[in-house]
Amino acid sequence: MYSKSDIEQLNTQFSTAEPQDVLAHFLSHYDDKIALSSSLGLEDQVLTDMLVKIDRNARIFTLDTGRLFPETYQLIDKTNLKYNIKIEIFFPKYDQVEQMVNHEGMNLFYESIEKRKKCCSIRKLQPLSRAFETLDAWICGLRSEQSITRQDLQMIQWDDMNNILKINPLIHWSEEQLWNYIKENHVPYNKLHDKGFPSIGCEPCTRAVESGEDIRAGRWWWESPEHKECGLHKR
Ligand code: ADX
Ligand code: SF4
Repeated sequence: MYSKSDIEQLNTQFSTAEPQDVLAHFLSHYDDKIALSSSLGLEDQVLTDMLVKIDRNARIFTLDTGRLFPETYQLIDKTNLKYNIKIEIFFPKYDQVEQMVNHEGMNLFYESIEKRKKCCSIRKLQPLSRAFETLDAWICGLRSEQSITRQDLQMIQWDDMNNILKINPLIHWSEEQLWNYIKENHVPYNKLHDKGFPSIGCEPCTRAVESGEDIRAGRWWWESPEHKECGLHKR
């Protein structure tokens, strides 16, 4: 198992490696203690295809906030069917969701950053921490060109908050590379991408973007760019 002190050397080792080589290395190292955290976005669908081709039993999980788009739920089933896999679903604790919506309303997130973060914490971070109980490493679809908050990210990081290794194999990929891979490999993708949604999260917190707008402009669009992280990827 790797530790925080290995990060620099790992980034040097994999600086010019293909994502598949990165995935293969860490899969063989961590076995069932590593998983892809998938939002069913374009990046995660590429990673799913790559992972399944390396090892059909590789673990993939998704955090079902209960507020995802119908298209995203359809894609979970479609992906499972196509690859003959079972994406693990982690759901929020029902009593926490009940308490939150009974006290603060169904759509509290529009009222303040604090309330938005509370909803993300209950619907995403708590389930993620349960997923982490079985993991020593997690794979994510972060890319540096996605946002100003992600520009200086490294491919391999130590997640201090969760004390776990974090791997972003597509960190240097462009959107064009993603689409080329999706088309060449016939990877199923969220139909919302064809309707102006480059980045897809929860339905009430995601809108389509205009051409020329930032990739993540449609996420929590009422907040300023430096706040647009839900806490999954705290720095
Ligand atoms: S977010 O933090 O703003 O929601 P974004 O949608 O850009 O993140 O996704 C970045 C990466 O975070 C994804 O590639 C995926 O690894 C992880 N992620 C985001 N949302 C989820 C989710 N609902 N379930 C599992 N992983 C997720
Ligand atoms: Fe709640 Fe919106 Fe965060 Fe989803 S993205 S968990 S609906 S605040």
